Amino acid sequence: MSEEIPFSQVLRQATREGHDRAQESPYIVALIAGDLSRAGYTALAAQHYFIYAAIESAAAAMRRDPVAGPFVVDTLHRVPALTADLAALLGPDWQTRIQPTAATEAYRARVAEVGHTSVGFVAHHYTRYLGDIAGGQVIRARLRTQHGITGAGAHFYDFDDLGPAPVFRDRYRRLLDTAPWTAEQRAAVIAESRLAFELNTAVFTDLADDLDKFLVA
Ligand code: HEM
Repeated sequence: MSEEIPFSQVLRQATREGHDRAQESPYIVALIAGDLSRAGYTALAAQHYFIYAAIESAAAAMRRDPVAGPFVVDTLHRVPALTADLAALLGPDWQTRIQPTAATEAYRARVAEVGHTSVGFVAHHYTRYLGDIAGGQVIRARLRTQHGITGAGAHFYDFDDLGPAPVFRDRYRRLLDTAPWTAEQRAAVIAESRLAFELNTAVFTDLADDLDKFLVA
């Protein structure tokens, strides 16, 4: 008798290649290597603002959805953190100083298009928040050691209010495993998550266009 592989593991496996492509994109490699200036890091925070505004606007609508609702956790939400970070990094007029790249526009359009179904919402939710809790912590450490940015400016990476990350991840995986999706819906979650990784990689590719400008001297 074969044991069924939990959906959370299937999803993780199915998105691994997309994850590695995102992680290996030149902008992220430069960020992790400590090659980016403060302005270079700020450029990513600005794109995050547009992306999370789209995801969290969908979250407000999906809060009472029987399947997607349990994924909506207020302490995960990043728009309040990003608002404080961008004010610290760019000043009080930060909102007039940022704009989405073409890839960010495409990303937020996709979230607006599919984010009101449990399948689409969870795929985009999973791809961002589970990543921020894991790999995001590497970026958090880099901001601290290289730029001395810890409080305002780095709130985006602070998930301390969630409690221990492994406990949260296990709970999240259980939600994925027990969501009452059909086989077709599970396949659609996988397809949308793969797309979400590609949308993220496209944003990093846009940011890499300005890599020369962002490198520390
Ligand atoms: C900065 C470079 C990155 C590093 C060093 C990194 C590292 C990691 C690590 C170590 C894990 C495994 C955590 C665990 O086993 O529980 C992980 C998981 C994950 N990462 Fe990344 N990551 C990076 C970038 C990204 C990006 C850009 C995204 C998407 C936008 C992303 C999305 C995810 C997701 C969704 C998971 C959860 C996989 C799962 O357990 O189902 N990561 N990352």
